[in-house]
Amino acid sequence: MSILVTGGCGFIGSHACVVLLDAGYDVVVLDNLCNSTREVVERVAQICGRAPIFVEGDIRDAILLESLFSEYEISAVMHFAGLKAVGESVAQPEKYYDNNVGGSRVLFAEMQAAEVKTLVFSSSATVYGDPASVPIAEDFPRSATNPYGDTKLQVEDILEGLYQQDSGWCIARLRYFNPVGAHTSGLIGEDPDGIPNNLMPFISQTAAGIRPVLSIFGGDYDTPDGTGVRDYIHVVDLVAGHLAALEYLDKNQQLLTVNLGTGQGVSVLEMVHAYERANQCNVPYQIVNRRPGDIAECWADTRLANQILGWQAIRTLDDMCRDTWRWQQSRKSK
Ligand code: NAD
Ligand code: UD1
Repeated sequence: MSILVTGGCGFIGSHACVVLLDAGYDVVVLDNLCNSTREVVERVAQICGRAPIFVEGDIRDAILLESLFSEYEISAVMHFAGLKAVGESVAQPEKYYDNNVGGSRVLFAEMQAAEVKTLVFSSSATVYGDPASVPIAEDFPRSATNPYGDTKLQVEDILEGLYQQDSGWCIARLRYFNPVGAHTSGLIGEDPDGIPNNLMPFISQTAAGIRPVLSIFGGDYDTPDGTGVRDYIHVVDLVAGHLAALEYLDKNQQLLTVNLGTGQGVSVLEMVHAYERANQCNVPYQIVNRRPGDIAECWADTRLANQILGWQAIRTLDDMCRDTWRWQQSRKSK
């Protein structure tokens, strides 16, 4: 039996391939390479000693999906394929609705037709909008502050509808907090195109001298040091949470919604200093205006994931910083 991993060449999907192959599953990757390269498949094979099957294609291609489900014995899908740049989603909302919502609809319809009804979906803490308090629990109200976030809300709702119509579905909606880090091999990691939007790749590129200075967006938040606070989670812990969810769904038919985070808030300044300490490097920074749409603090209540999945993040901030730096260094020699 195989697991279909959509978006399996991307940052999180590639780490999911590793954890699945290591756990003994066969893996079929479907990726259109709009934000990744096929080289990732070889790198996953280097890490695991065996390769996933790679199919270049789009989740919006119903005919391709139909042929995949008939050719391979797929028992479940991990669905990572999607666009994720918040700013771009504001500029080009249709592109996001078409890819993230339209693509998911096609995928779910083809799963239903093939009687493959086990799904792990990449949702996001962005569905909590601007939360009234922290830590954030799964039953907090949901809202979207941008089209990207709205696509996550819509797909969550589609999944709820599917489950209500047919309780044969086994669905995990995993709400990620801030995934960072890289595999310890330095072979796979986050590879943003152009100027990074997210903090960790920006810190790495600044430490590597690719960017002269990190702009810290806002020093006047109501937080202990005035900078924004987030729940950064190591990508290897995150994908371990996916494996735990898959194994849980194997025994329990239901619609599961859980946060994947560490439960610890870390400020931007704390992250900068942790990075410098862990890697003995220098990250020049300047404090600038707040980024529109940013919230002051966001971290997870992780009790549900602990209780239901028996999972918790174990990697430290130091691990996140060291593994990101190892990956960054390996990019330099590419
Ligand atoms: P990524 O861009 O690195 O990976 C996504 C992959 O999907 C890429 O390889 C891309 O080529 C592929 N893809 C996109 N659209 C496709 C389509 N229509 N058909 C086939 N392949 C397609 O992103 P990531 O960081 O690995 O994120 C994976 C998922 O997790 C996304 O759905 C994202 O929204 C979600 N998520 C990510 C974060 C984060 O901080 N990285 C946080 C919360 C949720
Ligand atoms: C952002 C998205 C969120 C998405 C997530 C993962 C926004 C408003 N939110 O979350 O929807 O799910 O990425 O892709 O874009 N920071 C700096 N300087 C930088 C970059 C970031 O100071 O150059 C700060 C931010 O203000 C924030 C923290 O670092 O306080 C984390 O930022 P980032 O990595 O972009 O993640 P989020 O904003 O939490």
